Amino acid sequence: MTEAARAWTPTHGDPYRAVPYRPARIPAAESLARAAELRERMDGRRTVRQFSTDPAPEQVVRDAIACAATAPSGAHQQPWTFVLVKDADVRRRIRAAAEEEERVSYEGRLGEEWLAALRPLGTDAVKPHLTDAPHLIVVFQQRHRLGEDGSKRKHYYVDESVGIAVGMLLSALHLSGLAALVHTPSPMRFLREVLGRPANEKAFAVIPVGYPAEDCEVPALTRKSLDQVLVEV
Ligand SMILES: Cc1cc2nc3c(=O)[nH]c(=O)nc-3n(C[C@H](O)[C@H](O)[C@H](O)COP(=O)(O)O)c2cc1C
Repeated sequence: MTEAARAWTPTHGDPYRAVPYRPARIPAAESLARAAELRERMDGRRTVRQFSTDPAPEQVVRDAIACAATAPSGAHQQPWTFVLVKDADVRRRIRAAAEEEERVSYEGRLGEEWLAALRPLGTDAVKPHLTDAPHLIVVFQQRHRLGEDGSKRKHYYVDESVGIAVGMLLSALHLSGLAALVHTPSPMRFLREVLGRPANEKAFAVIPVGYPAEDCEVPALTRKSLDQVLVEV
């Protein structure tokens, strides 16, 4: 199918229309093997904050964004925009603005409880990844859509939908061999302005992508075990 043939148009108000869905079944033994392998590979994902400046294939990033855009979304409204920031000057401006916000945050705006939660991560207001990583994705959520006549069309479950899409983005990047960080400088209002996004979009996360630096370290964290997160009723 060509890109043009697949172009999405809003389905709001359309009647129900169905197409067959018959994905090939995977034998149980293969499912088990795939699931076990995936579990191990996903457990190897870590948030990286020190990136190599080595280039990483842009096509991997584009494919990962395409994977993210297959995410389920409330009423299929796909309320996301992924901005791939290539312009070095724009990236410098994002870093400067993010570091300014983060400086105010770390100097007290966050409050002691939040700062205590962050302490084990070893983070501070300096954000070199915003300029060092070979790729930078800024994810925006579309709080609503603007109809052709300028009217507002509400979007549903926007936070949930964009969160799921970003999870799929991170998984796709990791499984394709690239590292990433979900960075949420708070507040993020400056991103809409710097990136010239429309008023119906709100920044959700800044995601540097690339390879870990040779001397990269990550905080020594442990994850909850399956029986700490899974309740069977
Ligand atoms: C919604 C969200 C916001 C985050 N914001 C930041 C951030 O602003 N800065 C940062 O360094 N890490 C941020 N992180 C990364 C988390 O600190 C990290 O995922 C967590 O410490 C677990 O580490 P791991 O990803 O290596 O398992 C964020 C993660 C999520 C999911």
